[in-house]
Order: sequence, then structure tokens, then C-alpha cells
Amino acid sequence: MKINKLIDHHKLEFDNFYKRILEAKLDKSILAKAMKYSSIKGGKRIRAFLVSEASKIVNLSKHNAMIISSSIESIHSYSLIHDDLPSMDNDDFRRGKPSNHRKFGEATAILAGDALHDFAFQLLSGNLNNIDEKKNIKLINYLSLCTGYQGLAGGQSLDLIYENKNISKKKIIEMYHKKTGRLFEFSFASPFMINKQSEKRINFSKNYGSLFGTLFQIADDFIDETNTFKEIGKTPGKDRKQGKRTLLSAIGKTGVRDYGIKIIEEFIKKYKREFFNNPILEKLLYYNLEKLE
Ligand code: IPE
Ligand code: IPE
Ligand code: MG
Ligand code: MG
Ligand code: MG
Repeated sequence: MKINKLIDHHKLEFDNFYKRILEAKLDKSILAKAMKYSSIKGGKRIRAFLVSEASKIVNLSKHNAMIISSSIESIHSYSLIHDDLPSMDNDDFRRGKPSNHRKFGEATAILAGDALHDFAFQLLSGNLNNIDEKKNIKLINYLSLCTGYQGLAGGQSLDLIYENKNISKKKIIEMYHKKTGRLFEFSFASPFMINKQSEKRINFSKNYGSLFGTLFQIADDFIDETNTFKEIGKTPGKDRKQGKRTLLSAIGKTGVRDYGIKIIEEFIKKYKREFFNNPILEKLLYYNLEKLE
């Protein structure tokens, strides 16, 4: 089956699970409504798909995979609500509808983001089956690192600081690793961390997730320039208008494609055995480059 089909198929299953768990835990307040508005539907759920693929490799149970995915997609939805705020990227649209602050006002949007962020830790700290406490704490700690100043929040800060400045390719890639790569790193590595794997394998899973995330951000920057509102559900052409420092702005379309191929080839060479045993992993990396056509 094509990757796109597999992702869509998994999305249906995940969306059902996520809706149920969110509705079971939330009330009817305005804040709860704003949280649901931005998280229940509309996303591609690509991070959840990575969790699912990693879980298949290490035999993590479906329930645990769904809990981890729900936690990650909550963090991701929080990051999008805040990313769209007027003081950040100032986007009026997200996932094909008015962004959270356009619908609920800025104060509620900030709080809905905060609360989704916290919801992720609530989920991860009390709902995984058959996991010892020590390991659970390690996992929560790892998520906090991937989302905090060394991860997503740190990267978002760099993204804003870099606007309209002359920034090197190396620094842009470091920024991608933080703002996008690290949550993907958590997505792919967490099943390996739970279902006891060797240090070497855990490192592979972290590096795979992070590489996937970097490629994903490269593709996102690309489609910002080339796709329509209907296709991406957010305002196109914004990066250039806002002077965002993207890899595309630094090395151009051909440069970006060549760079993508180079880092994938190097990575596959380094971890041949993992790819030999799980051919979908290679397809998934190249799936990001298909969007650069
Ligand atoms: C958008 O992420 C933000 C980036 C990190 C590039 P997605 O493209 O995964 O957004 P949804 O969840 O599908 O809306
Ligand atoms: C967002 O990157 C990365 C996050 C961690 C939210 P972008 O600012 O490029 O994401 P979009 O294009 O608004 O979805
Ligand atoms: Mg942004
Ligand atoms: Mg943005
Ligand atoms: Mg973008």
C-alpha cells in the first residue's frame, strides 16, 4: 500500500481514539471547547503514524501506542495554536478553518495551548499499561526535554529571532532539529524506550525520528511556497513575506532536494540493518521528498 494510504488509514483509527479520550476527560467550558477545536480533527497525524510504525517494530501494545500518540498530538496542537498567535507567525487560518485565536480570542487561545500541553503530561503519567514507574518517569522527562528550551520551544524562539537576518545553513538546520525534529524524535523513539531495547537501537530510533522531522520541516517550507490554501489549510506564501529563514531561502529548491537526498542516503548507509529489516522506514523518509516535486 502507498504511504499516503497507510497514513490516512491510521489517522481514522487515531482520530477516533483521541476524540474519545479527550471527550471523556474534558468538560463543557470555553477552555475545553477551544482545546477540542484545535486538536480533535484536521491534522494529518503523521507523528501518531510514526509512533505506530515504531510500535510495530518493537511490539508495543496498541493501547500504549495510542496513549503516546495522543500525548504527542496534544503537544503538537498546542504548538500550532501558539505558532499562529499574532505575536508569533500571525496566521488567521489553521487546518482549513480560522485559527484558535481568531475563533476564541487571544487569551483563550494561549490558555488552550497551555492546557493541551499539560494534557499531554496528564495522559502520559497515568494511562500506560504494564510500565514500571521508573521507566514512565524517564519517558515523561524525555518528552519535557523534546518540548522545552532544548526542543520545540527553543526552536520556535530561534525561528522568530532569525527572521529577516542572514543565518547560516548550519544554524537553520539546528533550528529545524529543535522546533520540529525533537518531537518527531520522541514519536519514533518512545516505543523503543518502553519496550527495552539496546542503547544502540534507542540511538538509532532517536536519530531516525529527528531526521524525519528535519525532512518534514524542509517539505513544510517548500509547500508554503508552492501549494494553495485549499491544499494546506493555512495561509500560503507566508514564510517569504515574514522573512523566515528557511533552508529553501538559503540554498534554493535544487539545493534543498540535493541536501534531502544526501542526508537520507548517509543515514541509510549508517544503519543498513534496521532498513533491511523494515523496508517501510526508507519509504517514509523519501515520502517527505515527494512533496518537493
Ligand atoms: C505543521 O505540522 C507544523 C510543522 C511542524 C511543520 P503538520 O503539517 O504535521 O500539521 P497538521 O497536524 O497536519 O495540521
Ligand atoms: C512550526 O513551523 C513548527 C512548530 C513547532 C509549530 P511553521 O511555522 O513553519 O509551521 P506552519 O507552517 O505554521 O504550520
Ligand atoms: Mg512558525
Ligand atoms: Mg507558522
Ligand atoms: Mg511552515
